Amino acid sequence: MYGREILLGVGGGIAAYKSCDLLRRLQDRGYLVTVVPTPSSLNFVGSATWEALSGRKVHTQVWENIPEVPHVALADKAQMIVIAPATADLIARIAQGRADDLLTNIVLASDAPKLIVPAMHPNMWLNAATVANVATLRSRGFIVLEPETGRLTGKDSGVGRFPETAVIIEEVEKISGWNADLLGKEILITAGGTREPIDAVRYIGNRSSGKQGYALAEAAVSRGAKVKLIAANCNLPDIDGVEIFPVATALEMGALLQDFFPTSDALIMSAAVADVRPSEVSDGKIKKEKIDHLDLIANPDLLAQAGKARRADQVLVGFAAETSHLEEYAAAKLERKGLDLLYVNDVSGGAIFGSTHTQGMILDKSGVVATVPESTKETLAHKLLDLVATRLS
Ligand code: CTP
Repeated sequence: MYGREILLGVGGGIAAYKSCDLLRRLQDRGYLVTVVPTPSSLNFVGSATWEALSGRKVHTQVWENIPEVPHVALADKAQMIVIAPATADLIARIAQGRADDLLTNIVLASDAPKLIVPAMHPNMWLNAATVANVATLRSRGFIVLEPETGRLTGKDSGVGRFPETAVIIEEVEKISGWNADLLGKEILITAGGTREPIDAVRYIGNRSSGKQGYALAEAAVSRGAKVKLIAANCNLPDIDGVEIFPVATALEMGALLQDFFPTSDALIMSAAVADVRPSEVSDGKIKKEKIDHLDLIANPDLLAQAGKARRADQVLVGFAAETSHLEEYAAAKLERKGLDLLYVNDVSGGAIFGSTHTQGMILDKSGVVATVPESTKETLAHKLLDLVATRLS
C-alpha cells in the first residue's frame, strides 16, 4: 500500500499551466498532492493558484520554515515525485545532482520513485546535452516520459509537447502501485466498547480497546474510502482523513448509525456493544450499601437493526468472539443478523482484547472464506476490506 502521497514539482515552462489539470485529475483519482514549483515557474503559474487547487501549503524556498527542514520533511512525505513540466535546465540540474532550489533539494533527498515529464522546444530536447542528461537520469532509475510531437508555443512544431494528462496519469498509476479499490466508497466503522452508566461514576463496560476498528479505518482511508468512525470510549490517536465521532453508550452509537448508515456503502461493526444497560441511571453516586442488585434492560442489537434496514447494494460486516464451535456459532450469527461477512475472533486463548494481534476466521453465506492465523489487526483489516471491495465492485 504505497504511492498515494505525490509531490508535484513544476518547472519553469509554459506547460506549467497544463499541470493545473494534471493536479486536478490526480486528486480525482484519490491522490494527495503537494506542489513544489521552481521559482522560475512562478512566472507562469503563481503559488496562489497551486495553493487553491491543491488545498495545501505551497513551498518554494529552502529558506522558509527552517526549523521544519522543509526539503527533508517534504522528501520523506512524498511516496512518489512527479516533475511536470521538466525543462531542459531542470533536467540538467537534477542530472548533475545539484540542489540550488527547493525542488532539486527534495529530489536529492528522496528515495521515492520519480517520474519526469519533459516539455520544451524540439531543439532543446534534441540537443546532445539534454539527450545525455536524460540518459543519465534513466540510468539512475528515473522514469522519463517521451514528449509528444505537435504544435508548440509560437509558430514552431515538433517533438517537445507536454503529453496528454491521461498519458501521465496512466504512468503514475503504473509506478505508484497504490491500491485505490475503495475510491469513492463511503465506509462506516464502529470501534471500541460501549459503557452503560449505572450512576455518576460507575458503568457496565467491556475490554474492547478499539484497536481493530481503528486499524480498519486507517486501512480503508489508505485505499481511497471516505471513512466515518464511531468510536466508543477509545483512547487512540486520530487518523488523518478519518472523521471520528466519539460516543459513550449503545444508544448514542445507535443514533449515529441511523444517521450515517443510509448513505454508507458498507458498515463494519467491530465495536463491542453492551447487550444490556441498567434500567435506571442515578444522577448522583449511589452509596455502596444501596447497591445490592441492578435491574437491566436489553440494548437494541444495532447490527441486526442495520441488517433489517439494509439495501442489497450495501455490505454489512459483523464481528463475533467465541471460545468454541467457532464456525457453527458464527454461521448462525451471520444468518440471524443479515450479514455479508463475519469475522469470528477465536478468544479461547483469552488474548485478543487490547492486543495488537488477532486470530480467527472469516465467513460469508457460503461458509468459511478464510482462516486467519495469528496476524496483526492491520493485516486482518486489509483482508476484510479485500472482501468488502470485491462485493462493492
Ligand atoms: N452488536 C450490535 N448490537 C448489540 C450487540 C452486538 O450491533 N447490542 C454487534 C457487534 O458490534 C458485533 C456483533 O454484533 O459486530 C456481535 O454479535 P453478538 O451477538 O453480540 O456476538 P457475541 O459478542 O459473540 O455474543 P454472543 O455470542 O453472546 O451472542
